Amino acid sequence: MAVLHGDNPTHALVMVGLPARGKTYVARKILRYLNWLGHPTRLFNVGNYRREHFGSQQMNPFFDPDNDEGVRQRTGMALMALDDMVHWFATGGEVGIYDATNTTRERRRLILERCRAQGVRVIFIESICDEATVEANVRATKLDSPDYVGVDPDLAVQDFRARIEHYARVYQPVDDAEGSYIKLIDVGRQVIVNRINGHLPSRLVSFLVNLHTVPRPIWLTRHGQAEFNVQERIGGNTSLSPLGKQYGAALKQFYRERIAPHGRVEVWTSTLARTLETAEIVGTQGLSWYALNEIEAGACDGMTYGEIKQHFPEQYQARNRDKLDY
Ligand code: SIN
Repeated sequence: MAVLHGDNPTHALVMVGLPARGKTYVARKILRYLNWLGHPTRLFNVGNYRREHFGSQQMNPFFDPDNDEGVRQRTGMALMALDDMVHWFATGGEVGIYDATNTTRERRRLILERCRAQGVRVIFIESICDEATVEANVRATKLDSPDYVGVDPDLAVQDFRARIEHYARVYQPVDDAEGSYIKLIDVGRQVIVNRINGHLPSRLVSFLVNLHTVPRPIWLTRHGQAEFNVQERIGGNTSLSPLGKQYGAALKQFYRERIAPHGRVEVWTSTLARTLETAEIVGTQGLSWYALNEIEAGACDGMTYGEIKQHFPEQYQARNRDKLDY
């Protein structure tokens, strides 16, 4: 039996990997992306359950696989999160992201069985990173984690490293026999997939291949003034005015001083003359996208606002009242 949400099959995306491999970062990105695509998606973070039930300040012995009480408590939290995810599918959820280490085959088998019994497809998303990435991740994120509030930073790093070692002792990477998986090596440098098919999983792979983990600036600029801007007409496809060319020259200077020194830049423009000409003055090679063109003005194209008010008074007023939704 397969649980469907509308016409869509339900999916559990099960994160796998040692601590500090960027699992939660990736999980949150997926969450945002899938919800944005319109697939009701929810994140189930086992660490949050643990913090809620046992407090956040658990030092590394809690995570020792030889600590029976710790294992019992952690397993309890993992099952509670799993129950909540299964319940989410039963109440209309389409995608559940199960964010935990899930480092043993036994744990993953248990998740698979629970999900399959509900007709939910499981995809493991395993993150494997080199030492440099782990080190950067520990320093960048774990020191600010609620687990180490008020703890001396060096002690926090030392404790977190010990926690990683506890997990590493029992870690079994996902293998082909376990079913569908996406392995992210060094958060996207290499992506390995196994038994991935269907619409949502394919989009997910494409999203993960293109995921960036370090912030990159995006600069937005308008084109220089076009002849229609001078005449206060909307739309059209006129060339830059003398003032527009002046703007292009100033932008070129800004680009050379402030943007180009930071490395390779990809420039996107619309397909309209005013943006192409501005980019040409700046001297950047660009990609032009129809999707970036100004919204089509229809019958009003080429008119001034005065002319629109005269010829289409109702449209003029409706647009003035609420330009965004209009
Ligand atoms: C945690 O308690 O922080 C994570 C639990 C786990 O995924 O093993």
